[in-house]
Amino acid sequence: MDLFSLENKVCIVTGAASGMGKQIAIGFAEYGAHVVLVDINDFGSEETSLIIKDIGTKSTVINCNVSKSDEIQKLFTELDSLFGRIDVLVNVAGEGYGGRPEEIDLSVLKETIDNLVIGRFKMCQEAGTRMIRNGEGSIINFGSIGGWSSLGRGHTPYGMSMAAVIQMTRELSTEWASRGVRVNAILPAQVWNENLRERISKQRELEETFKDGIPIGRLGEPEEVKGLAIFLASSASTFVTGAIIPMDGGNLAMNAGGSYPGSSRIYG
Ligand SMILES: NC(=O)c1ccc[n+]([C@@H]2O[C@H](COP(=O)([O-])OP(=O)(O)OC[C@H]3O[C@@H](n4cnc5c(N)ncnc54)[C@H](O)[C@@H]3O)[C@@H](O)[C@H]2O)c1
Repeated sequence: MDLFSLENKVCIVTGAASGMGKQIAIGFAEYGAHVVLVDINDFGSEETSLIIKDIGTKSTVINCNVSKSDEIQKLFTELDSLFGRIDVLVNVAGEGYGGRPEEIDLSVLKETIDNLVIGRFKMCQEAGTRMIRNGEGSIINFGSIGGWSSLGRGHTPYGMSMAAVIQMTRELSTEWASRGVRVNAILPAQVWNENLRERISKQRELEETFKDGIPIGRLGEPEEVKGLAIFLASSASTFVTGAIIPMDGGNLAMNAGGSYPGSSRIYG
């Protein structure tokens, strides 16, 4: 238990109102952290905060749109006055926008890059500066299997951005390793969330298509990310940095080419 303890640590989790961010925030609280719940969905963040209260630890809810650098700046100014230190940052919040690559408006690409690349970078920069000052810290960036290999189903801006998140993680881990800051990435495959449920309810065969690419034979559950996140945040992983870790039921280990249904089946 001690090896994984997050007692007295200040941990920021973005996207804490739902899905994997919510589960990570709960997991961190279970291991003793004070969790800063960052999201644009205040109602969801308050729900997460109530669960954490029941666990017996503390959390702080802050509304911040991670696509906006000025809001991130404000967030860290507030955190400086509240805590004066940041021990862990988990960059979870993020959206995927898409469409046929030959038709995508450049504004969609820019919006995705603002959200996933610039947003994550600015969060890393602000948290990293404070961690370097303290001589320690752990950053976990959420990427995607779609940033490693292509999905081929209208996710080009998302895939391009997640690939940038992976390379950013390698760069920052190398730059900051000697100054006590570790930076790692988690790459999920399809994990149930509200959007995915809605998409699959409209296009039932999609679930089978996804499962064809996942050797474990099912989609992931959001709470399955808890253990990995606690490991990366805690002293259990002090020699782990620059690691790009799939959480994908085996997707990246196999040649998932057999699961590619062809653009015509995706776009109709
Ligand atoms: N679920 C999957 O299948 C899957 C697969 C690969 C990668 N990912 C990535 O993992 C992360 C989490 O996915 P999830 O399934 O938990 O998502 P989710 O939709 O359940 O939760 C995302 C949370 O982020 C918040 N959010 C969105 N945009 C924001 C913004 N600009 N500023 C602040 N908060 C914002 C939302 O309000 C929501 O609470 C995302 O970055 C996603 O791209 C997910």
